[in-house]
Amino acid sequence: MSKEILKLNIEKAQMETDRKKEDVKNGVMRQRYHFMPQTGWLNDPNGLIYFRGKYHFFFQHNPYSGFWDSMHWGHAISEDMLHWEYLPPALAPSEVYDDHPKGGCFSGSAIEHDNKLFLMYTGTANKGRGYEQTQCIAYSEDGFHFEKYEGNPVLTAPEGILPDMFRDPKVWKHEDMYYMVCGASRENRGLALLYRSGDMLHWKFFQVLAESRGEWGYMWECPDFYPIGDKYVLTFSPMGAGDHTAVYLVGDFDYKTGRFYPLVSGEINWGFDYYAPQSFPAPDGRRIMAGWSNEWEWMPLWKDWGPTYKEGWCGFFNIPLEVRLMEDSTLQFLPIEEIKALRQNPEYLDSLVITEEETELRAGDGVAFELKLKIDLEKTDADKLELFLRCGEGKKTVCLFDFENAEMRVDREKADGWSRGISRSVMYLKGKRELDVHILSDRSSLEIFTDNYRNNHSNNIFAGETQNQLKIRAIGGSAVIKEIETYGIKDCYC
Ligand code: FRU
Repeated sequence: MSKEILKLNIEKAQMETDRKKEDVKNGVMRQRYHFMPQTGWLNDPNGLIYFRGKYHFFFQHNPYSGFWDSMHWGHAISEDMLHWEYLPPALAPSEVYDDHPKGGCFSGSAIEHDNKLFLMYTGTANKGRGYEQTQCIAYSEDGFHFEKYEGNPVLTAPEGILPDMFRDPKVWKHEDMYYMVCGASRENRGLALLYRSGDMLHWKFFQVLAESRGEWGYMWECPDFYPIGDKYVLTFSPMGAGDHTAVYLVGDFDYKTGRFYPLVSGEINWGFDYYAPQSFPAPDGRRIMAGWSNEWEWMPLWKDWGPTYKEGWCGFFNIPLEVRLMEDSTLQFLPIEEIKALRQNPEYLDSLVITEEETELRAGDGVAFELKLKIDLEKTDADKLELFLRCGEGKKTVCLFDFENAEMRVDREKADGWSRGISRSVMYLKGKRELDVHILSDRSSLEIFTDNYRNNHSNNIFAGETQNQLKIRAIGGSAVIKEIETYGIKDCYC
């Protein structure tokens, strides 16, 4: 019976998408190469996996409108993580444990087991005692049609953990055992709980992997845990930790005791729009991570779901990144190599002296482009260098490198008439001879990577197509750019 309900709810959602998708396609804020839903709302990346020759991305999805509600798992497949074939939703609310308005099939992960694709997700329901979150399983023989396990839920919140703050299981396999890390809240502090299982269906609590002492908020959403080099990485999105949207801890892990010993902590992204990242191993050994570029930070102020809502969609993923471990145990986050295949109209300049007068630069059509530059810090005597991005119609986003104060800032107060805020980070300049900058601009976002991909800002900006100028100037002296490369980026959606 409930199999039927699941099937019907998936068909209903797909019909809604089919009815609207041609209209939504014409939206002027649609991205050109970032992953986004065909229609409706998207939030967290879910179940990212390479399965039988294709990348599968699932995502938190409301197919009925461009705002958050009644969570489904959207589904798409790709060979390069840039060109996508959309599929019907993999999961829709259908059971007492995952069917409720403002509830549904919340975030989770995927793994291959028993020759099937297994999904582990959080069922969120309200049975009259407030929201209850439980961990649930669904599986598929072909990777496209899923059925929910009849023994669901496989886990309920343990003693001391709030039942509405127990979510987002991320599963992996080590030797003969499955492990799962789940986000939770205990005594107003965020934590990551570690479980294990021999068969993916029966799960036992193993250890507290890590816990906030107040500095990392009251709830951890979407934790992820994986090996990298000889270390382990824990990432999570803390609630109630100010501007920290996605953080990482790198340390040692002992499978015998389930204890994690963090050595280094860092910020995955300093921008306003990087949340709930999830990672997975690519077949060539890379660790790939995708995060959600959320669009609701000003919502309470503006009573608005973001400008793209009016076009019938909302939310996209930031460019997938490759995670690498550095010698000092910090992490680098590099845009995936695959993006190079989208480059067009290359331009190259070297030994460029930037003065206080604005210099115009060319990068593709000024909307979807890539820009890489190396600032010669030894030859630069300016106090600051400013890049004006997506300028036009009296608007611009300012990316400032303040050498005097070793600070980087991305100011979108005048970006588009909607976005706000200045994202800031400290630049590690000590002993450095040059500073590398890599920018990915798409219609509605700007992603800026510096310091060897360790100091990164991802921000939405809803700038129109006529905001397509790019300028640079120095303040308090001149700046020397050793090399500058720019490229247009091909549209993946036409
Ligand atoms: C994070 C999150 C998750 C939850 C999902 C619901 O953005 O709140 O914790 O599973 O979104 O859509």
